[in-house]
Amino acid sequence: NYYAVIMAGGIGSRFWPVSRTRLPKQFIDMMGTGKTLIQATYDRFKKIIPQENIFVATNEAYAHLVHEQLPQLSQEQLILEPIMRNTAPCIAYASHKIQQRNPNAIMVIAPADHLIMEADVFIDDVMKGLKCAENNDWLITLGIKPARPDTGYGYIQYGKSATVPGFKKVKTFTEKPTLELAKTFLQSGDFLWNAGIFIWSAKSIIQAFQKYQTEMNEVFKEGTEIYNSDREAKFISGAFVRCVNISIDFAVMEKADNVYVLPADFGWSDLGTWASIYDLADKDYLGNVSSSSENVIAYDSSNCMIHAPDNKLIIIKGLHNFIVVQSDDTLMICPKDQEQGVKQIVADVKEKF
Ligand code: GDD
Ligand code: MG
Repeated sequence: NYYAVIMAGGIGSRFWPVSRTRLPKQFIDMMGTGKTLIQATYDRFKKIIPQENIFVATNEAYAHLVHEQLPQLSQEQLILEPIMRNTAPCIAYASHKIQQRNPNAIMVIAPADHLIMEADVFIDDVMKGLKCAENNDWLITLGIKPARPDTGYGYIQYGKSATVPGFKKVKTFTEKPTLELAKTFLQSGDFLWNAGIFIWSAKSIIQAFQKYQTEMNEVFKEGTEIYNSDREAKFISGAFVRCVNISIDFAVMEKADNVYVLPADFGWSDLGTWASIYDLADKDYLGNVSSSSENVIAYDSSNCMIHAPDNKLIIIKGLHNFIVVQSDDTLMICPKDQEQGVKQIVADVKEKF
C-alpha cells in the first residue's frame, strides 16, 4: 500500500543561470555526484517503495526530461500538469489519482530537488512515517533543526510527544515567516523547519483538502471515474485552470489541526542557493568549490564557488568570496554575500530567459 510522489515541477529560479525554465535544478547534477537530484530522489525511494508505486508529478514541459533521466518509469507513473499552480493542486490531483487505484494508499510526497547526505537514516524515518500513517489519521511532516532564521522555509512549532514514539504534535505551522518572526522562532527553541516531505494516507489528505480547500478538492474529486483512463489528460487540462495557485503549506498545513512532526536528522539541505551548495561541497585548501577540476582553474583565489559546463574553461585570478556561474549561454559573477539578489536579477531579465 505504499506510494511515493516526487514533486518536480518547480523552476528553481535561484540557481540561475544554470537552473532556468528550460532546465530546473531537479534535472541537474548539482553536487557532481553523477546523478541528477531527481535520480537520487528516485533511488532513495526505490529501496522501500515498490518500483511501480513511485510517481513523478511535474509540468508537461518537463515530461521529456523525466523520461530521459528516469527511463524505467512507465507513462502511467508520470503525473502531468498542464500549467503551474504550485504544490497544492499537484498534491490534490496525485492523491485522488492514487486513491482511485488503491483506497488504502499510504503516501510519501517529497521534493525532487533536495540533498540528503544520509540516505539510510532518511529511509528509516520515511518508513516510520508510513507505518504511523497506516494507523493514524495524521498529516506527518519531517522536521529539521533550524540553522538560521531563513525566511524561505516553513516553521513548525512542536508540542507534546504524540502517542507514537518519536512523533510530536504540531502546535503551529508558519509558512515563510518574516525575518522578525523567524528570529523569535529560532530563539524560542521549540521550532523546526518543515523539510517539505509529507507522509499521510490518501484518505487523510483528501479529507483535509475537503475541509480547507473544498473547491479544489471538488475539482479533482470529479475526475475520480476518469483517472487512469484515456480521458484523463483532457479532464486535467480543464481542472488545473480552475485551481488557485497555492502551495500545500499555505493551503493545508497551516490550517490543519492533525499535523504531526517527526524530528529528523539525515543531513538535509534543500540546496536553496549557490552558497548552500558551497557550504556542503568539498573545498580545496583555499576554500574554493568548483564543479570540475579539469575546466576550472583558480589562481590566488579563495572561498569562491565556481560552476562551469563541460565545454567551457573558466579561469579566475585574485578573486575572493565570489560566485562564478557559467551556463551554455550566460555568465553570472556575484559576491557570495549578495546572492539574495539573484531572484531579482532573474525577474529583470525574464524576457530573454
Ligand atoms: N509538480 C509540481 N508542480 N511540483 C512543483 C510545483 C508545481 O506546480 N511547484 C513546485 N514544485 C516542486 C518543486 O520542484 C520542489 O521540488 C517542491 O515542489 C517544493 O516547491 P518549492 O517551490 O521548492 O517550495 P519552497 O522551497 O519554496 O518551500 C517548501 O519547501 C521548503 C523546504 O525546502 C515548503 O514546503 C516549505 O515549508 C519548506 O520549508
Ligand atoms: Mg524548495
